Amino acid sequence: MRLQAITAKPVKQYKSYCFTGQTDPNIFRRLILIKDVKKYFAYNFNRRPISTSKEPNMQQVFTKAMARNIFLGGSVFFLAIYLALTYDTWQQIPLRDHADKMTPAVLSGKYLFDTNNCVGCHTLNGEGAYFAPELGNVYKRRGPEFIKAWIQSQPTGVPGRRQMPNFHFDQKELNDLVAYMEWLSHIDTNNWPPNIQG
Ligand code: HEC
Repeated sequence: MRLQAITAKPVKQYKSYCFTGQTDPNIFRRLILIKDVKKYFAYNFNRRPISTSKEPNMQQVFTKAMARNIFLGGSVFFLAIYLALTYDTWQQIPLRDHADKMTPAVLSGKYLFDTNNCVGCHTLNGEGAYFAPELGNVYKRRGPEFIKAWIQSQPTGVPGRRQMPNFHFDQKELNDLVAYMEWLSHIDTNNWPPNIQG
């Protein structure tokens, strides 16, 4: 059947062959349809870019200029919000960190904290290493005497517990570290961490 369809020659030009070798009875309707489709595409391809039709089309509704304006306008708008928030943050920081209340003892404690790399194991308000407890709120959790006694009595040597080295601080250095931790505990962090254990 199939072979016959392929090898058979069309009798006349307007006749097409289906696989049965019979003339397709719908041939004229199909030819008309193809002609219409061709006309339709030719019409659409030849149309001028801006349609004169009354129906709104895509080009009338959303132009390139509009897309550009939305992009540029949106960028400027969100850049302005970003700058405003940055400005606001810089206004808030001095009110929240009360850096003006840093006494010489607090500064000395901060210096000891930084130069002994306490943050290599601990976090301060979430920043640092997660090996040892949060120290931003340790003053509220433990109080000054515990902190001093703790630092002096390291390492605990308790099996199975993480160990902290002994730094051999003298009394003044211990008091300075405690002053720093007290100052840290008054930073307004929006009540972070959410519980006293940090
Ligand atoms: C090598 C890591 C390491 C370093 C460095 C380190 N610590 Fe610790 N620290 C620990 C560990 C571990 C614990 C908790 C041990 C435990 O619970 O048994 C701890 C606990 C503490 C505590 C008690 C916390 C609490 O909630 O009870 C304080 C206070 C403390 N460290 C202060 C410091 C200070 C100040 C420094 C810097 C001078 C420092 N640490 C440096 C590992 C370290």
